[in-house]
Amino acid sequence: MVFTAHDDTVLAEAERMHGGNWMVKRRDEPSREHSRTDDAIDDILGDAALNQRNSAWPGGSPGSEPHGDERRSPLVPHAQALTLRVLAGDPARADHSAGVAARALALTPTVPAADRDTLMAAAWLHDIGYAAELRETGFHPLDGAHYLRAHGWPSQVCDLVAHHSGARFVAAVTGLGDPLSRYGFVEDAVSDALTVADQTTGPHGEELSLNQRLREKLDRHGPDSPTVRACPQREPYLRAAAGRVGQRLRLE
Ligand SMILES: [Fe+2]
Repeated sequence: MVFTAHDDTVLAEAERMHGGNWMVKRRDEPSREHSRTDDAIDDILGDAALNQRNSAWPGGSPGSEPHGDERRSPLVPHAQALTLRVLAGDPARADHSAGVAARALALTPTVPAADRDTLMAAAWLHDIGYAAELRETGFHPLDGAHYLRAHGWPSQVCDLVAHHSGARFVAAVTGLGDPLSRYGFVEDAVSDALTVADQTTGPHGEELSLNQRLREKLDRHGPDSPTVRACPQREPYLRAAAGRVGQRLRLE
């Protein structure tokens, strides 16, 4: 496998441009307690995320109708709470999800303001399909998306979870391309930011370069794993997404 270094500076540039304000804390101990979750939301996401207003989805359950544009969107807190609940038995995965949310927060300047809550929600939720209670096909992007669709989450969130990090290339080598194709994939600033956030966050939430993340996947999963077998098709997509995100950061 050939690695290049041209994308390693993407997140370093994000940190430089935002003065390190995107560095957010992660929970050490995921909890099901509502009050603790609510308290942690301000710590984890910070004002940059929570001040986003989303008139398309401002209140109630995930599928509820808008109530007005003065309320904060509950989309991101709901996503965080669901993630921490279903991954409570897998603290490393929960930490990874929090790390991806932190990275996504750093990348919100690269997406339209109206899509920032969607990006943050998908960042929290992208790996919930690993939870045992959600397992259907064993392919976590698909299992997570199935659960979210069945529970009325917005279609854009379901689609982003289904296709995060080039899932279509992995699905192609595992024979799951057809069920995955029932979810729409749009190659845009939001899908790029989610993929780059995931691919620059390690399995315990640590910051990694894209090259380090690709090497860590190879070491952890082995050369015969679907993820690694999909690399010839998937890696160029990941590098292209990182390049586009880097370009958007420079223009921002
Ligand atoms: Fe992930």
